[in-house]
Amino acid sequence: MNMSKKNLYIESYGCAMNFSDSEVVASIMAEHGYNAITSEENADVIFINTCSIRDNAEQKIRHRLKQLRGRKERNNELVVGVLGCMAERLRDKLMEEEKLVDVVAGPDAYRDLPQLVGEVEDGNKAINVLLSLEETYAEITPTRLNSNGVTAYISIMRGCDNMCSFCVVPFTRGRERSREPETIVREARELFEAGYKEVTLLGQNVDSYLWYGGGPKKDFNKLTDEEKADSVNFSDLLRMVAAVSPSLRVRFSTSHPKDITDDVLYAMRDHTNICNYIHLPAQSGNSRILEKMNRTYDREWYMNKVKRIRKIIPNCGISCDIIAGFCTETEDEHQDTLSLMAWSEFDFSYMYYYSERPGTLAARKFADDVPLEVKKRRLTEIIDLQNEISRKKNKDREGSVVTVLVENESKRSDDDWMGKCDQHIVVIFPKEHYRRGDYVDVRIERTTTTSLIGKAIGYNEELQPKTTTESLSN
Ligand code: SAH
Ligand code: SF4
Ligand code: F3S
Repeated sequence: MNMSKKNLYIESYGCAMNFSDSEVVASIMAEHGYNAITSEENADVIFINTCSIRDNAEQKIRHRLKQLRGRKERNNELVVGVLGCMAERLRDKLMEEEKLVDVVAGPDAYRDLPQLVGEVEDGNKAINVLLSLEETYAEITPTRLNSNGVTAYISIMRGCDNMCSFCVVPFTRGRERSREPETIVREARELFEAGYKEVTLLGQNVDSYLWYGGGPKKDFNKLTDEEKADSVNFSDLLRMVAAVSPSLRVRFSTSHPKDITDDVLYAMRDHTNICNYIHLPAQSGNSRILEKMNRTYDREWYMNKVKRIRKIIPNCGISCDIIAGFCTETEDEHQDTLSLMAWSEFDFSYMYYYSERPGTLAARKFADDVPLEVKKRRLTEIIDLQNEISRKKNKDREGSVVTVLVENESKRSDDDWMGKCDQHIVVIFPKEHYRRGDYVDVRIERTTTTSLIGKAIGYNEELQPKTTTESLSN
């Protein structure tokens, strides 16, 4: 293998898990002499880490690949690889369709990337889209890309065993498996020691995390007594990561309404450093549609989960994902989604109209029969309602004090910091003497639909490491 330093540029699309995977890829490639750079200029290898969740996500990537054609024509040594979910879904078809693609690697094949790139340098095209029952990249320390040095993702599991009828993820990411907890805690500790102040534990369904020694997901009841005794579930893992330091904030995503337990909520209540925020996608507010989506809960179950959260953690932020116009959805059923949103008062939501994905249960069994204009109109109603709720909820926060972890300069002004409060809402305030990575209590003065604007009143005493405040006040 050629070990001279080469430049690698990775561009990521899709969910946080893809961005997190790109950091694993950068680490694997670094071991083989590839240096990750932040622009495609001067790259010897370009990897596009792709998403298949909706048709427009794939269209965007195809457009990007077309753009890369010119670069490849000017430099025929350039290696272009497609990674991630589109690679897994389209496999060798992708190479036939997009002639410039040299490497295709699915989400479980990243250890093979240096080898695959080597094959291309020898004049071949290279592909590996094997899915695995075990791979979690557990011991790989990700190379942080585009990092603010304050917040980082930690992947705790891979794949998904739910078969939501609209969703392509189980096909592109394979079976669910959990990562060994010690490696997760170690990664959190190393990040904290390197100055990071917040980790987000990632999985498609974090509440079903279960470590019992490795391998594909098993039901807790099917474990042997010995496996049960040593097993670690998500609430255990949350407590373990929270114990790394009271000054390390812990977040997680995504929670599934069928799997989130009171134990998770108790862990959040017991630890100040576990953020009071849950991303709890409902997808729809109508029980017939939820059943058709194979979400395995109904409207009442979802509402009861929201009630439990509000009871155990009164100030918990909740956000949601909604799909408008799923197969056979009627106008009344759409109204049920609106009424669930109004009742739940989500802080914010990610909202989409249904996009049929080839090979999914819905594509095989149900007609995609809601006309596009109707889907779009329903989506607009959903977005308008959410904006109204967000505006009102933020307005209610005026005058209150929130704790902010400083992440970056505000996009609008060099004089202001940007960070997030517990509920994962953007907060902007004048910098004064505060620094990136500080925990600051901010009194909110003005609000918009998406952000809170205020003024610092001091460090947050519970979260800010004592040594920092002492050394600063001296
Ligand atoms: N694991 C997460 C979701 C991951 S996909 C969960 O179960 O909640 C992120 C979001 O994309 C989903 O919550 C859903 O709202 C949306 N989505 C997934 N498939 C879609 C499709 N075919 N059309 C439109 N939106 C879709
Ligand atoms: Fe897709 Fe459902 Fe799995 Fe989420 S839980 S990734 S929506 S199949
Ligand atoms: Fe997209 Fe794959 Fe994530 S389809 S949303 S990148 S798991």
